[in-house]
Amino acid sequence: MASSHFTVLLNESIDWLSVRSGGLYIDATLGAGGHSEEILKRGGKLLAFELDEGMMRRSYERLEKFCPTLVKSNFTHIKKVSIESGFSQVDGILFDLGISMLHYTDLGRGFSFKKADERLDMRLDDKVGVDAAFVINQFPQEVLKNIFESVLASREAAKAAKKIVSVRVVSQFEKVSDLARLFPENAAEIFLAIRMAVNDELGAIQKGLSGGFELLKVGGRLAVISFHSTEHKLVTKIFEDLEKNGTAVVLTKKPVFPSSEEIETNPASRSAQLRVIEKI
Ligand SMILES: C[S@@+](CC[C@H](N)C(=O)[O-])C[C@H]1O[C@@H](n2cnc3c(N)ncnc32)[C@H](O)[C@@H]1O
Repeated sequence: MASSHFTVLLNESIDWLSVRSGGLYIDATLGAGGHSEEILKRGGKLLAFELDEGMMRRSYERLEKFCPTLVKSNFTHIKKVSIESGFSQVDGILFDLGISMLHYTDLGRGFSFKKADERLDMRLDDKVGVDAAFVINQFPQEVLKNIFESVLASREAAKAAKKIVSVRVVSQFEKVSDLARLFPENAAEIFLAIRMAVNDELGAIQKGLSGGFELLKVGGRLAVISFHSTEHKLVTKIFEDLEKNGTAVVLTKKPVFPSSEEIETNPASRSAQLRVIEKI
């Protein structure tokens, strides 16, 4: 049976976006469509981006009665695609970063270190770019070390890269278990770092947030939900820079966290943080 995805910080993010009937909104990360559905229910006009074709199809069924515009595109192209779709001067944009629970549980692309037999793919768009197996089997040790440094201390990152290189000269990495068994203590971090590299997630956040910010009208809001410290730091820095150059004000002086009720229902939400800026 297919699993489900719990939408994180649903009411908090939509309230902070101050969604109003007839306003223009962009959901940069459609996923299972929970945030998009709430924007549409409140009468917002919606354009949504999703990189993963399977996720797009699932959400289309959920949302088609509202007739939103859904595009299969990387949110790095947010500015160009939105303008072409008639969404310039928008009231609000949401980024709910990372991947959906369905990626871990149902999609079979090696995102979870617990799915031993899945192939090491980890591409969100499985038609472009190099997959996780290629990164692990082919990238130079120094590059692997840099990749792991996005989530691990420098010494640990160097050790992880060295371990991979010493194993791959004997046998190539193909399945999740080939990688996970080498890292019994920090498999979650190792998998996260590889996934971020495969999808250039940090580069995409930089491009997506700056392109998105340019689409906002004065008074428009940009809300971002992030899930781990590398993302939290990057979003904080981008928002601080926009505030420093006098174009935005950070509305969430402290990040918004999920309530204890939400964490109880959906433990995976516990690391989520919401930050919001307004264009001035
Ligand atoms: C955390 S989920 C979003 C969940 C969604 N808010 C909901 O309520 O169901 C993030 C989604 O963004 C998509 N995604 C990640 N990076 C993307 C990118 N650069 N461009 C477009 N979509 C992306 C992922 O495929 C995933 O489905």
